[in-house]
Amino acid sequence: MPGKLVSASRVSLAQLMGPEHANNFGNVHGGAIMKLMDEAGALACIRHCQHRVVTVAVDMLTFHQPIRLGDLVTLTAEVSYVGHTSMEAEVHVVAEDLLSGECTFTNDAYFVYVGLDETGKPVSSPKLIPETEYERIRMNEGEVRQKYRISQSRRNPKDSV
Ligand SMILES: CC(C)(COP(=O)(O)OP(=O)(O)OC[C@H]1O[C@@H](n2cnc3c(N)ncnc32)[C@H](O)[C@@H]1OP(=O)(O)O)[C@@H](O)C(=O)NCCC(=O)NCCS
Repeated sequence: MPGKLVSASRVSLAQLMGPEHANNFGNVHGGAIMKLMDEAGALACIRHCQHRVVTVAVDMLTFHQPIRLGDLVTLTAEVSYVGHTSMEAEVHVVAEDLLSGECTFTNDAYFVYVGLDETGKPVSSPKLIPETEYERIRMNEGEVRQKYRISQSRRNPKDSV
């Protein structure tokens, strides 16, 4: 299977933050942002593997700054590491105050997905080809991140009690 460029997976989504995204304090609910980030990461991975995907893990999801209602949120996602059937996407969020034009980097995270075939079985993904030094380092470090996730995951809920 031929490899594919990181840049070929890149997606960008924009969404105006309205009342349906609010928390009780008048800012945007963290869960609303997490959902959008998951969607953006999934789209990048679908673009890469050209199969449907499911989310398997999320890590290092950080809320750097609050997002206000009325802000235009732009999410960018791209595949950062590919295992065999698993793919990691790095997702970034920027919130723009449309009246002042001020843009704030608010969130980032790594999401991990697995591509599935028509029968629901994990399917192998094309190799990832980094083009920049940042993409190459991030991809190499992705292998370390993935090994750590696997070492920490509890597949059986009984393991945690
Ligand atoms: C994802 C799923 C299909 C994997 O099935 P499985 O039988 O465990 O398959 P495998 O053990 O072969 O794992 C598949 C890949 O997931 C990776 N994986 C499994 N658990 C993981 C974890 N906790 N963190 C990161 N990657 C993980 C494996 O390392 C493997 O990657 P690789 O092929 O690149 O080496 C299954 O766990 C599942 O359906 N989970 C629920 C997904 C879901 O409902 N998501 C929310 C809605 S989208």
